Amino acid sequence: MYNSKIIGLGKYLPDNVVTNDDLSKLMDTTDEWIQERTGIKERRWIEKGSEDSSAVMGAKAARIAIERAGLTKDDIDFIVFATMTPDYYFPGCGVQIQDVLDMGTIGAIDIRNQCSGFVYAISVADQFIKTGMYKNILVIGAEYHSNGLDKSTRGRGVTVIFGDGAGAAVLTREEDNTKGILSTHLHSQGKHADKLIVTSPSIKHWIPEILASKKEDISYFPYMDGTFVFKNAVVRFSEVITEGLIKNNLSKDDIDLFIPHQANLRISQFVQQRFGLSDDQVFNNITKYGNTTAASIIIALTEAWEQGKVKDGDTVVLAAFGSGFTWGSVIIKW
Ligand code: UT7
Repeated sequence: MYNSKIIGLGKYLPDNVVTNDDLSKLMDTTDEWIQERTGIKERRWIEKGSEDSSAVMGAKAARIAIERAGLTKDDIDFIVFATMTPDYYFPGCGVQIQDVLDMGTIGAIDIRNQCSGFVYAISVADQFIKTGMYKNILVIGAEYHSNGLDKSTRGRGVTVIFGDGAGAAVLTREEDNTKGILSTHLHSQGKHADKLIVTSPSIKHWIPEILASKKEDISYFPYMDGTFVFKNAVVRFSEVITEGLIKNNLSKDDIDLFIPHQANLRISQFVQQRFGLSDDQVFNNITKYGNTTAASIIIALTEAWEQGKVKDGDTVVLAAFGSGFTWGSVIIKW
């Protein structure tokens, strides 16, 4: 069995910055409320008329990651694309990457695990590399939330959180079993699916039904029971990080860098405190980008790496929690 390791990272954020004050012109909210409850100051939202979409942004991030890996698109054996905002109902974004990057007819899959999407995607790629089936895998997380949010006061509890963006990583085979991705840990609890959900359009709730609906139908906007999600998040984050540490005989003192899914700065701070980590040991960028769900960890990891905060030999912990519920962690020896 091989290990896998990350050898290239890339990110792409749309240029259009939307501040909390900008949002207060659309809905009844304030910069103070948003910063106090979430830590977010601004996010990027794709501008109307832009070519950007989840697949297009994913391709932009992927090109950078492949180049930084010192590879070409022809070296990539497989694509894993994590998104909850695909360009189409079907097919998924993975096949669009194969086309846009003009790759050979390699396999491509989409991962539909929302905020935990990137953790799941890394785990899937890791398994393919471990078995020797593939050598180089492109893993992308990308989200185009802004076109699907309720920008009226009705949607303020959800809309102010989410941002658009993409990140990508290239994973390759590592023969030394003490390096690279040491383990991944995945969980789900479907009974809470309705706590963070977009119910339509779906096969159960299809377009004609929505259009025919006599009363206002907002099932195509995300619904979130924020407080319930928050309470579960802090518990599951802690559990799944501990699970990863125990599996690798590590303690919290061994963590050099923790990169949490950027759901809410308050959640990250709670987990930081729980594990007694210093500010230097935790990387957050939700202040600038909001919650980009499946893209958030990979954008943050890329940014941390660009800032020289990820060094050879470091123990890096990734963890995520979100809709499903799904949650997971990844333990990496960089
Ligand atoms: O990444 C996927 C997983 N998602 C998460 O992890 C998100 C977890 N949850 C959260 O981050 C928080 O629950 C939120 C930031 C979404 C909400 O914070 P909260 O402290 O749980 O607020 P709340 O929903 O309990 O709302 C408190 C009050 C309500 O008013 P009343 O009923 O007390 O009068 C809301 O209507 O704040 C009101 N409110 C707002 N006010 C101004 C809700 N959204 C806003 C807003 N601006 N944007």
